[in-house]
Amino acid sequence: MAQTDTKTQPLLDIRNLKTYFYTDDGVVRAVNGVSLSIDPGKTLGVVGESGCGKSITAFSTMRLIPSPPGKIEDGQILFRESPSADAIDLTQLNAKGPQMRSIRGNDIAMIFQEPMTSLSPVHTIGNQIGEAIMLHQNVDKKEARERSIEALNKVRLPRPDRQVDAYPHELSGGMRQRAMIAMALSCSPNLLIADEPTTALDVTVQAQILDLMQNLQDEIGMAIMLITHDLGVVASMADHVAVMYLGKVVEYSDVRTIFKKPRHPYTKGLLNSLPKIGQKQRLIPIEGSIPDPFEVPSGCTFAPRCPHATDKCKEEPQLLEVETGHQVSCWLEVK
Ligand SMILES: Nc1ncnc2c1ncn2[C@@H]1O[C@H](COP(=O)(O)OP(=O)(O)O)[C@@H](O)[C@H]1O
Ligand SMILES: [Mg+2]
Repeated sequence: MAQTDTKTQPLLDIRNLKTYFYTDDGVVRAVNGVSLSIDPGKTLGVVGESGCGKSITAFSTMRLIPSPPGKIEDGQILFRESPSADAIDLTQLNAKGPQMRSIRGNDIAMIFQEPMTSLSPVHTIGNQIGEAIMLHQNVDKKEARERSIEALNKVRLPRPDRQVDAYPHELSGGMRQRAMIAMALSCSPNLLIADEPTTALDVTVQAQILDLMQNLQDEIGMAIMLITHDLGVVASMADHVAVMYLGKVVEYSDVRTIFKKPRHPYTKGLLNSLPKIGQKQRLIPIEGSIPDPFEVPSGCTFAPRCPHATDKCKEEPQLLEVETGHQVSCWLEVK
């Protein structure tokens, strides 16, 4: 993707990543040749139906794939700790070693759909944020508590000086999400990976959390990998979009192009199933469903659901640039 880009050096540049799971029933090629990049301070929306490998791409980047049964089989995850630094290939680091541990937390932070995944139910919010702060910054317990309160204030949790002593179950879903964001951002990461961060929240709270993330992004200047199946969220947040289908990126472009001039039939299908504000039209979902992970079709994996499929689609299309900055993997685009 950004191989020839000499203007801006990407913060994160994933190239041909393959992450497989070796299960008793066979091999799941969860991520099967993903390439995508994110520039410093920008937001990349990663979209696609459930099961297409979004989370596994994120977990691979954090080097948090459970192994076994998972394994990064191929590819590079190039990450720059600062704009002038040389890129480090995260796939080459020891997942549990000091360098990767320092990158996780200091440079790359991750938040999830369900805050309880990252918040411990038996410790107060303040202790958990404080732990993260003490782990990465050289401060004592008292100072860590002060900084935790500051962090909670920043994510606009009401009465942070009291909530700092609350346990996660004492907070509402939206407040827990704020606390998790506070924990993730307490070390000012360069990259925030947000995996469906608002899916579990109601629409009003969702808008508040997205707003909060955007404000914090402006303040800290971090880049965001925003994983979601919600194209509405992508439209309002992302600079660029990677559309994933069955472990691959099938279309990549700036957000405007994705919405105005989508080219991949899968992207068009996703857009057709998006409700339009003020319009009471029926949603047109994409025909069929994602195949069983053990029975992925050869060739173009979307062909069985594609209204334009031809014999050519028995061969695998490559992700190719169809205009500057716009990549599509579809035989319709190969002239
Ligand atoms: N621990 C695991 N063992 C086996 N298969 C897995 C495991 N984790 C994820 N997968 C499979 O990897 C594929 C991609 O999953 P995921 O990245 O979670 O999808 P998404 O986040 O896009 O919904 C799915 O087919 C899923 O079943
Ligand atoms: Mg997921």
